Amino acid sequence: MIRYNTGYLKNFISNDELVAISPEVLEASRVLREGTGAGNDFLGWRDLPVDFDKEEYSRIKAAAKRIRETSDIFIVIGIGGSYLGARAVLELLLGESHNELSRPRVYFAGNSISATDLADLLKICETGEVSVNVISKSGTTTEPAVAFRTLRNYLIRRYGEDEAAKRIIATTDKARGTLKKLSDEQGYETFVVPDDVGGRFSVLTAVGLLPLAVAGIDTDALLQGAADYRTAIDLDDTLDNPSNLYAAVRNILYRKGKNVEVLSCFEPRFRMMGEWYKQLFGESEGKEKKGIYPSSALFTTDLHSMGQYVQDGSRFLFETLVSFLETGSELAVNKEEVDFDGLNYLAGKTLEDINQVASDATLRAHVEGGVPCSIIEVERMDAYNLGELIYFMERACAVSGYVLGVNPFNQPGVETYKRNMFALLDKPGYEEDKKNLLK
Ligand code: PA5
Repeated sequence: MIRYNTGYLKNFISNDELVAISPEVLEASRVLREGTGAGNDFLGWRDLPVDFDKEEYSRIKAAAKRIRETSDIFIVIGIGGSYLGARAVLELLLGESHNELSRPRVYFAGNSISATDLADLLKICETGEVSVNVISKSGTTTEPAVAFRTLRNYLIRRYGEDEAAKRIIATTDKARGTLKKLSDEQGYETFVVPDDVGGRFSVLTAVGLLPLAVAGIDTDALLQGAADYRTAIDLDDTLDNPSNLYAAVRNILYRKGKNVEVLSCFEPRFRMMGEWYKQLFGESEGKEKKGIYPSSALFTTDLHSMGQYVQDGSRFLFETLVSFLETGSELAVNKEEVDFDGLNYLAGKTLEDINQVASDATLRAHVEGGVPCSIIEVERMDAYNLGELIYFMERACAVSGYVLGVNPFNQPGVETYKRNMFALLDKPGYEEDKKNLLK
């Protein structure tokens, strides 16, 4: 099971500090478990790994099989919680070059309003058979709506209405919204984003499961990993619960002025997991003028850019390393007869071993530089262990948010830019907002 290793924190957090914060964390853990805290109408994620709609899950697998048989290109349209989880898991398990290495190719659209990106995607569509999964809980988010309008139009022109309808799948609210209405009218297959699951906690619903199943990822193992971690910790309101301990550490450090967390990893394919983590914690905790700013770094790459700052810059950082103890790769450094580059001292060592040494060396350096460091230890880089990691993070985030004193399940701050954008784009109903803005 996942372990949260605090061995490097000794110089930064005393046992007394842990004892002092413990009642708050244990209370937050209890409130979360009993569902009596703020935002308790968004706690559906807690039971997803065990209490999911089995009929829908069978349909997800059947749809994935069909898409794999009929499509070379699968486009996932969505933004924020409606795409980050799927992309993060996909890239961690299949690598950032998955489109060169496996079939069908999977692309993500509707996560910006970039014309160049969408134009490129339309060119890519010409290179194979295409299916689209549009994901939007509200069904009204501008970025995915614009991408979907464009790609739906493309599919209808290319395949005709009937065949296009078979190639479009919508994941949205079960009853409400434009997308649900359109899907029912057009006969698109639909999957549900449950009412009580917020976007950033939705990776273990159809939002994540369909794209991942299409990509050939073992979604049973992903759910099982999350379920097993949940079983292990669900009733544990102590600091032996790794999620609670992580929540405690984050809040102790925050109260000592460590306002920025760097989630680091020594695997480049973790990049999008870093983005998923940033949304999860940033949107859950960053409110009421408080909250840790979540950032991410990929080492050793970023040691050659941000490494200087982490080692030696302003001391408001703490670092949490996600360490995969086994990656499944046995690639090793070869021996050369003539040691032309002086690397024979590494001959025979696996890159995984060298990377582990680099990670150890880095944490020791950062601790020496005054950065509190801790480690989330994940046994293997596979679907099962990733399920554990996802649940570990979600649970820690919820507890940490309660300890911080905010509602971790809403996101009121995201609305302001949308209101301004609608007003400036002359969306009906925003006339007053526009007048106020232009003043
Ligand atoms: O976590 C969230 O709630 C958000 O990031 C949403 O997922 C994002 O804004 C997309 O919303 P929707 O699925 O309604 O299009």
